[in-house]
Parts: sequence; structure tokens; C-alpha cells
Amino acid sequence: MPAQPFPDRPRADALEKVKGTAAYAADVRFPGLLHAMTVPSPVVRGRVAALDTEAALRVPGVLRILTPADFPPAPQAVDMPGSPRPGLVTQVAFRGEPLVVVIAETLEAAIEGAEAVRIRVETEPFSAMMDSPGGVREPARDVTVGDAARTLGGAAMVVEASYESPTQHHNPIELLSTTAVWADGRLLIHEGSQNAGAIKVAVARTLGLDPAIVDVKSPTVGGAFGQKGWVQRQTALVARAAMLTGRPVKLVTPRGQIFHLATFRPHSRHRIRLGADASGIMTAVHYEVEQQNSRSGGFPAGQYHEGAMRLYGIANYHGAAANIRTDTQAPGHMRAPYEHPACFAFESAVDELSYQLGRDPVAFRMANDTRIDVHNGRPLSSRFLNDCLRIGAERFGWSRRRAEPGSMTDADGTQIGWGVACGLYPTLIHPAIATLRIRADGGTRFAVAGHEFGQGIRTALAAVLTRELQIDDRRLEVLIGDTTAAPQHLTAGSWGSASALPLAVQAVKRMRLAVAELLNGRRVAGTLHQQIAAVRRPFVEVEVSQLGPGQDASALERMRAGGYAVTGPAYPSFTTMSYIAHFVEVRVEPRTRRVRVPRVVSIADCGRVISPRTAASQVRGGVVWGVSHALREATEIDPRYGGFLNNDLAEYVVAVNADIGDIEVGFIDEPDPLFNSIGLKSLGEVAMVGVSAAVANAIFHATGKRVRKLPIRIEHLL
Ligand code: MOS
Repeated sequence: MPAQPFPDRPRADALEKVKGTAAYAADVRFPGLLHAMTVPSPVVRGRVAALDTEAALRVPGVLRILTPADFPPAPQAVDMPGSPRPGLVTQVAFRGEPLVVVIAETLEAAIEGAEAVRIRVETEPFSAMMDSPGGVREPARDVTVGDAARTLGGAAMVVEASYESPTQHHNPIELLSTTAVWADGRLLIHEGSQNAGAIKVAVARTLGLDPAIVDVKSPTVGGAFGQKGWVQRQTALVARAAMLTGRPVKLVTPRGQIFHLATFRPHSRHRIRLGADASGIMTAVHYEVEQQNSRSGGFPAGQYHEGAMRLYGIANYHGAAANIRTDTQAPGHMRAPYEHPACFAFESAVDELSYQLGRDPVAFRMANDTRIDVHNGRPLSSRFLNDCLRIGAERFGWSRRRAEPGSMTDADGTQIGWGVACGLYPTLIHPAIATLRIRADGGTRFAVAGHEFGQGIRTALAAVLTRELQIDDRRLEVLIGDTTAAPQHLTAGSWGSASALPLAVQAVKRMRLAVAELLNGRRVAGTLHQQIAAVRRPFVEVEVSQLGPGQDASALERMRAGGYAVTGPAYPSFTTMSYIAHFVEVRVEPRTRRVRVPRVVSIADCGRVISPRTAASQVRGGVVWGVSHALREATEIDPRYGGFLNNDLAEYVVAVNADIGDIEVGFIDEPDPLFNSIGLKSLGEVAMVGVSAAVANAIFHATGKRVRKLPIRIEHLL
């Protein structure tokens, strides 16, 4: 285990990104490229009764129009990465479902052609929102630890409240884009994705191809955060268009359509009863949650309370989670999918309880520290949440805080509030396979599963490899997001680093052994490159693989087949979580009631930090998104027509530069002793968890108003 912290180093792809030469999927060029545009369903539910493509085919440049007849009937799909997707449908299940694809010589012709297609849909009744008639509430699934009802009955203090998190959509700057090339009996797909391996399998299954002839490349992705982890509808449509026309085809889906096609964060409600004994120890919690879901979508609801309950290890806990099935596209993972809404609710309730008990919110949380995972009683492999709270409080100046809500006011009447909240995220791991090739001429190539969507996995891999190998990293090639280089698994759930970085360490060890064997006792001074040159080999390549704690080789086989084999955070002998503490200052203007967030201090426990610069950048990004969720973001639904109304970046309001003040980031940087050889845990998602609760808690401290529904708006503070 590296004893020393990793040094700071620049982002591996910084220069390309700044110069604009980093190639995203829509930037790839092929001679004879055609453009595609889909025609989305204008209604939520119904049957396509008539399809008139005559006028569209007369648009100059329009080459061909794909209809449902152009697709093999897809096998039954479930909403999982790697599952086949329907081609084009005649039975509409949600507004925006693609019905027709127009293929043209230019983008303009494709758009004009799509607008000229006439479709008549016989509409059927639908439910657009969680409370719409026709929504079906599934029976709740329960988790019980100890006896929450009895303990709450005898608790010294109980908080009971409902919290609400709205529908939200990811808006990565890179739109969903696919370019497909069909040549020499092979299909090549370029798409910005977190899941090149699943695309390979899903497209093959949808189109009736052998996955072995499908290659997917996704080396650089312009933001993802869960949206690009799922296989998109469009991929197989574009692939089919390339096969039928014999020419490369590109589709960049407009943002307005993406709101209706991609997964999103569903609306959820969290009803919490939380009790403490007279000494201020939390003894019981009853947590009921319900979320909107599609008619057949996955994305189970139970993880909201299951995750949050690992924050303090409260001994008596009852959780119940239910889906409400409506007519929408499937919701899915959006940055800290469960932990973010759950910790908004739970860390708000914890804050309410601390006030009711008359305890300082930081001291109250620290007094409720735990060493065990409440779900199984096993130890946590490492936990430095109290250090996060202690260091954060020092840096923030928490000791200067006046306890009484509404007691910190500026001369002009601006109300100042200081709030705290914690967050956590599981540390998961996916099995993976990597190859390391070292060349006699000085080049090094490392290929592994992983996707770079800005989080810095390429930089972190380079940090580990250069440290282990002492090589010139200008000659280092890190190949990720490419199914031709290594089997690719889903990069999500903040498991990217844990699933790739220890493999780099292992590969270097294996390489040293391999080279030593070739040297056969000879002593050759210098680098591995020079040693390989000395034995007259152009290169030496080694392959290594890694399983999660407790996994057997079948997980690796599932992964090779494009399946999903993630494990954690509960491992056979321990549980591994990452933690963060956020301290937030808000200022509420006296007349307009506008809320500003001038400063945030966030301290994270993510085990060993590998790439300090990109790690800090991830935390800042998470805080920005947390503030955005707390104060800005919500997708609006019109119950009469279904679909999403504010489906562009003008009306889906996100935090901008002017909304964000100082963000100070710190890391505990203590290696986890059990989880892996480097001592790293998850980062990425934990960064935003708890931010919105810290904002809401600060607003309560500023104003005395407890807002339990996101986003918090001016009208809630009048
Ligand atoms: Mo994660 S939901 O892939 O940001």
C-alpha cells in the first residue's frame, strides 16, 4: 500500500480539452456520412393508426425513412444495461418514444424530412404524474432491523415529517449522439457512453447480430452522470440505418427529445419518523418512501432508505419502499440516485431532531457515530465521518455560530444561516480485466474497462501507472471506453477507480515478473523498456483480472459477456462506504427573499486520494450540483398532455456561475486498510450527497423556516 499521498498532477486530457481537439462521438468523420433524425411520439399512449411518409420522402436530400417494418421484432426487453431495446414501435408507451427515423444527406434535410412525416395515433388514457388517476401503487417492500415501532413509542424525542424531491433531468453538455459504420461484415459504433460493453450486447440482441461483430468506442464523453449508463433507444436505430443504407449514419438527439428518451431522477416522497433517547442518541427510525416509475421500468425504490440508514447505524429501523407506476419513459440513475434525495430527507430530519433536543447539529451528529453496518452488524472497513465534521467545522468557523435560528442578521436585514449535513455513498466494485503492454521503444499502453466523462479516471490511471513504473507519461497510452481494447463494463456508481486502479498496480507487478523471467537471471540496468530491448522483444504484454471481495470467477465471465456484475458495499467480512460533511452559509435577502450561497466547506473521506486535482474538482462539481438541486432544478409535467414542459436549458434552471460562491474542499486522505491494495474508496457521487440538506438546514438557521420540499424557492420563504 502506498504510504505517501499521491502528488498533484495535471489532468491527463487537459490540453486536448482546452484546445478543443478532444474528439467526442459526434466529432468523428467518415466519408459519405448520412444524418438521421427521429420523429418522436406526440402523445403519451396510443396505437399508430396511420403513417404517411410521402411528403417527407419528397424533401430534397432525404434518402430513406425507417419504420417499424425495418426492424426485427426485439426480444422481450427489461430496463437493464445490455438488454435489447425496442426498434421502432407502433404501440406508444410514453411521450417522445421514437416512431420513425428519417435518413438524409444533410442534417437540415433530415430535420425537414422528420417534420414532414404525418402520423395519426389513436390515443389512449394515461397517467402522467405520481398522483394522476391510473397510476398503480405497487405493494411496498420492507426492511426491518430491531423494533422501530416499539422504540419510537418509548423515545424521549421524535421528529415526524415528509420530505419531497422533484423530477429532475441530467443535462450533460454532450448530447446523446451515435455514429454507426457497417463495413466488411462488422458494425462499429461511436457513442458517448458510460457503458460501451452493454451497447455492444444490446445492439446485437436488438438487431439479431452476433455481439462478436460489434465494436463500440467511447473514449471521451462530455458528461454522463447516469444518463449515459443505460443503453439508449437511438443506438440500434442508427446501427440499423447504417446497415440498410450501407453508409455511415450519425444521429445527435436534440435536448428536447432527450428529456423524453433518457432516464431521469423520478419524483420521490420520504416520510420519516426519527427518535432519540434523552441522552441524544438516535435509537429508531421509520422510513417510508415512494417514487414515480414507468409501467415496466426497473430502478427499485428500496435503496433510498437502505443507503441513508448506514449514516449512523441506528439500531432499530423499519424501511418501506414503493413504486407508483405511470406512463413515462423509465426513470434511472442520476448522480447519487438514491443517496441524494434520501440524505436530503434524512439529514433534514436529523437536523430537526437536533434542534428539538437543543443540541448543536455538529455535536449531535458526532455523538451518533457508528462502527458497524446496521444491515448486517459487520464492521465498516474505514470511517472518518467525525473527522470530516471536526475539520469542516474548524475550517468553516462553526464555533462562531449562534445557535438560535434567525439570530445572525446583517445590518441591512439579510438573514445569515449556517447549516451542516452529511452524506455517504457505497463503495462498489465491478470485476475487470486489463492488459499492460510495455514496448522496447519506450511506449506503454494500459487497456482496461472505464469511461472518461470528465471525472478524471484517465488521470487517476496515469497517476498510478507513472508512480509504479517511473515512465515518461507522454509515451503512456491509457485505452478506456473501447470494446476492442478490453471488455468494458458500466462505469457508474462511483466504482470506476476501485475497479480499474488496483489492476494497474497488479499489472505492473505481473510485468516485472514477466520481464525477470525473460532476463533469466541476467542483470540489465535501466527501465523496463530497456530491459525488454535487451532481450530483443518489441514488447511484453501481460493480462490481469480483478474480482470484488467475495466474488468468484463467474462474475468475470458475466462481465466478459457484457453483463452487470457489480458488488458491494456489503462484502463478506466488512462494509465499505465513503463519507462527506458539508458546511453551508446562506444569506436570505430581507425583501426579495432571494437565497444566496456565498460559501461551502466540504470534507470527504474517500480513502486514499489518487488524483488530488480531479478529486477536488469532482467535489466542487458535486457541491455545485447539490446547490442547484436545493435551489433550482425541477422538471415540470403538464398532467393534461404528459411529457416534460421545461425541456431545454433555458427553462430547466440549473445553477450558474453567479449562483456559486467559494467552495473549499478537503480530504481526510486515509487509506482504507481492507478494501483494496491502494486503499481508495468511492468518490464522485458522495460529493453531492447531503449538500441540499445542508442548504435547507442553513435556511432554517437563517429564517426559522423549515422547507421540506425541493427546490427551495422564494415563495417558500415569504
Ligand atoms: Mo452515476 S448515477 O453514473 O453519476
